[in-house]
Amino acid sequence: MLSTDQRTAYAEQGFLVLPGFKRPHETAALARRAHELVEAFDPAQGASRFSTRDRSLLADERLLASAEAMHCFFEEEALDAEGRLVVPKARSINKIGHAMHDLDPVFSAFSKGPALAELAADLGLARPQVWQSMVIFKQPEIGGEVGWHQDASFFETEPVTVTTFWFAIEDATLDNGCLWAEPGSHRGERGTLRERYVHDGGRLRMERLSDRPWPGRDAAVPLPVEAGTLIVFHGLLPHCSAPNRSPRSRMAYTLHATCSTAAYSPRNWLQRSAALPVRGFD
Ligand code: FE2
Repeated sequence: MLSTDQRTAYAEQGFLVLPGFKRPHETAALARRAHELVEAFDPAQGASRFSTRDRSLLADERLLASAEAMHCFFEEEALDAEGRLVVPKARSINKIGHAMHDLDPVFSAFSKGPALAELAADLGLARPQVWQSMVIFKQPEIGGEVGWHQDASFFETEPVTVTTFWFAIEDATLDNGCLWAEPGSHRGERGTLRERYVHDGGRLRMERLSDRPWPGRDAAVPLPVEAGTLIVFHGLLPHCSAPNRSPRSRMAYTLHATCSTAAYSPRNWLQRSAALPVRGFD
């Protein structure tokens, strides 16, 4: 499926932009289903729990529980100090995660199939394992910033194999918070893994590994893309996105896959039990 030029570009730049990978009816079906999940979510439950318990411990518990579930997570600016919603529910959700691709038929249909299996093989993913799915809403006006990070911090394997599949479900623009990355910064010293997110003693924490600075905005390039575009990128590629202060949402859907031939760290936050074993793209 990928041409030699595309493979070379991926190896050199650390990412590849594939316009039109998904057709309009496919992105529309995923967006519709995402909105249905939000509609079915009871915000009062989440909000009250936010205000009555240790927030950080609760956040850890909620994240861990979402490894084999479909959970909604609030935008930071959607709640007031008491944990009450200050925007309509439909616009309060930051993301849904993290097992829709294995639990929901609409998400599963979007997340699997020969086109993705072939692409993964072309990118060198041997017997891929798709650990996580996320809908990232990037809501109008309050869509939060995502600071510089490397996805390999969250999916450690030896060697590094995690690859991100980032689908634009809506147009991603400079105004509504498209991705930014510095081409080639996944390689050599620039690709040094800066931090690692570990599950340790029942808690989750970010461990600093290197003081290497993140790319500057002058070296980074924006990646505005139309709905239906797939951006694939290397786990060591630093990337970020700006807050969305525009009136238009920027929904994206991501999958993270590793090679089953590489050792998956038992300290990664996301582990699967025998009840929901990790699967590939088929
Ligand atoms: Fe990321």
